Amino acid sequence: MLSFLDASSVAVVIGASGGIGAALVSALREHTAVGTIFATGHANQPPALARVEAYTLDILDEASLAALAARVGEAGSLRLVFIASGLLHTPSGLAPEKSWRSLELASLQQIFAINTFGPALVGKHFLPLLSRQGAAIFAALSARVGSIEDNRLGGWHAYRASKAALNMLIKNFSIELSRRAPEALCVGLHPGTVDTPLSLPFQRAVRPEKLFSPAESALHLLEVLDELRPADSGAVFAWDGQRITA
Ligand SMILES: NC(=O)c1ccc[n+]([C@@H]2O[C@H](COP(=O)([O-])OP(=O)(O)OC[C@H]3O[C@@H](n4cnc5c(N)ncnc54)[C@H](OP(=O)(O)O)[C@@H]3O)[C@@H](O)[C@H]2O)c1
Repeated sequence: MLSFLDASSVAVVIGASGGIGAALVSALREHTAVGTIFATGHANQPPALARVEAYTLDILDEASLAALAARVGEAGSLRLVFIASGLLHTPSGLAPEKSWRSLELASLQQIFAINTFGPALVGKHFLPLLSRQGAAIFAALSARVGSIEDNRLGGWHAYRASKAALNMLIKNFSIELSRRAPEALCVGLHPGTVDTPLSLPFQRAVRPEKLFSPAESALHLLEVLDELRPADSGAVFAWDGQRITA
């Protein structure tokens, strides 16, 4: 899987303390030949495993991102950046809005900061490091609910809008990236509904066969990345390889 990753390759997983991010690090270690994985958490540091360098980092702290980028730049050929961080609700009461009546400026700012602005800053510091020779991928976990075309239910205003804006950044980054690294890709991914703390309050409506374990989802996502070609750059793909409409 991901045959362009070899022992001299470096991968970065942001949000590696989360459900999907941790499973991705495991899947990368087990199913690819990647040499070093830089794995970051925020409140929680990911476990330090063989071939894994673990850190804590706030995706909104540009100085920390720059410091990590400097270490990554010295470690080898950067071939994969995977943003697996994100926010939907908090223990202190931030929750997806059912109506415009629930909109709060502070919640909008927090959701956009983690889901949109943070990935933008990761792009600023890590896209220039992506290998210019051969295949390389910059991927961010988006969500199907970020599709404007596919929105039939409404609600979840801040989260949906933050992921739609993330999808635009992915498209923009893909255009800029193609000029410096023609074989590299920048894509968004929808992991399916995955059994993690993020989805926990909303799992009751999900049929058991539609709820993936983080390990299942991580494998699906790596399989999707494996099939992508440079012409796919800028788009968002679901766990089953389906392209999600903007
Ligand atoms: N689970 C699903 O069903 C589902 C469906 C569609 C899309 N997604 C997307 O998939 C992504 C991962 O979701 P998940 O289910 O794995 O969620 P999760 O288990 O809650 O993990 C979230 C991750 O984001 C990190 N994070 C939060 N704030 C951060 C910050 N300021 N700086 C850096 N990292 C920060 C967390 O770090 P700490 O825990 O260390 O603080 C954690 O590693 C999200 O973007 C989500 O929108 C998930």
